[in-house]
Amino acid sequence: MIRFGFDHYGDPAVFTAIQAPVPQPKPGQVQIQVLGFGLNPYDASLRRGEQAAYRKLKWPIVPGTDVVGRVSAVGAGVADLTVNDVVINYRPIGGYSEFVVASVGKVMKKPAGLSLAEAAGLPQVGIAAATVLQTLALAPGQTLAVEGASGGVGAMVVQLAKAQHLHVIATASARNAEYLRQLGTDDIGAYDEEDVAKRFANQADATVNAISGGFDRGAGALITRPGGTLLTTAYAKPETGGKCLDLVQLGDGSQEKPETVFPQLAALAKAGGLSVRIAKQLPFTLAGVQEGHRLLECHHPAGKLVVMKNPAE
Ligand SMILES: NC(=O)c1ccc[n+]([C@@H]2O[C@H](COP(=O)([O-])OP(=O)(O)OC[C@H]3O[C@@H](n4cnc5c(N)ncnc54)[C@H](OP(=O)(O)O)[C@@H]3O)[C@@H](O)[C@H]2O)c1
Repeated sequence: MIRFGFDHYGDPAVFTAIQAPVPQPKPGQVQIQVLGFGLNPYDASLRRGEQAAYRKLKWPIVPGTDVVGRVSAVGAGVADLTVNDVVINYRPIGGYSEFVVASVGKVMKKPAGLSLAEAAGLPQVGIAAATVLQTLALAPGQTLAVEGASGGVGAMVVQLAKAQHLHVIATASARNAEYLRQLGTDDIGAYDEEDVAKRFANQADATVNAISGGFDRGAGALITRPGGTLLTTAYAKPETGGKCLDLVQLGDGSQEKPETVFPQLAALAKAGGLSVRIAKQLPFTLAGVQEGHRLLECHHPAGKLVVMKNPAE
């Protein structure tokens, strides 16, 4: 089988197609024939070598936390999944492959309401968003501001927050305002047309900075009320302008487990309340992976980048 990975750090051209044996499931695991995988900013950070000091990985490195596929074999003791089930898998690494194996706790059946591409884009942003809300522990009626609400993580935070009956303020570019309205956002600020920090000053009990790279010119701190919480999803120190805030870095605490988050996402999808916007579907080829990583490096149209075996499905 083919995997897409790299044996040195660098730009998207470092990816190569690597031949590897098809992995076999151990007890409690399933083997998944991958139909598509999601790309995330973290994968690009791995490729650039920024995670090397925090995470020791063997070469070649095959990124990929988000997989959708068809169960192709089951290990001993697996009761709830059978061959041909279409599933979603969240994994630490290695998803850019034709086959993967995964423990059943990290796998859920694909909700009927999601396409294969949407399912490929869901795991990491779903788990990140659930971790954000669990960390903030706001009560219904409290106000949450989401910066970068049109992005993969931001849109998922908005949806989980509305399901928890929070009042949600969102910022994104004007071209994505209609999408944020569809997600049920209560108030929207277009950062490219107005001063969102001034408009929403001190309104939020907590603010999530879900902007890729985290650069918001201090808007998150201004939007958050004194004593509120400013949570950043990017590895960037937030500007506070001297305001007293509780600063939280997503990833410093423990991450919500797929076993906990997947049932919540499945329930939302079943109720028709889960949207995963796809920015672009790329072909399941070396060129597709390299092109996807080029797009990860720039301000691409909002939504998830996914690599699909059959982009038409
Ligand atoms: N720690 C974790 O566990 C974890 C997990 C997943 C992701 N992350 C991090 O979370 C961040 C977001 O990831 P993502 O996948 O959601 O990225 P993404 O899909 O690229 O979304 C980023 C969004 O930021 C918006 N944006 C850009 N400049 C803005 C500004 N000045 N004000 C408001 N919005 C702005 C863009 O909206 P417009 O297009 O509307 O301008 C875009 O939709 C990344 O830094 C990623 O590394 C962390």
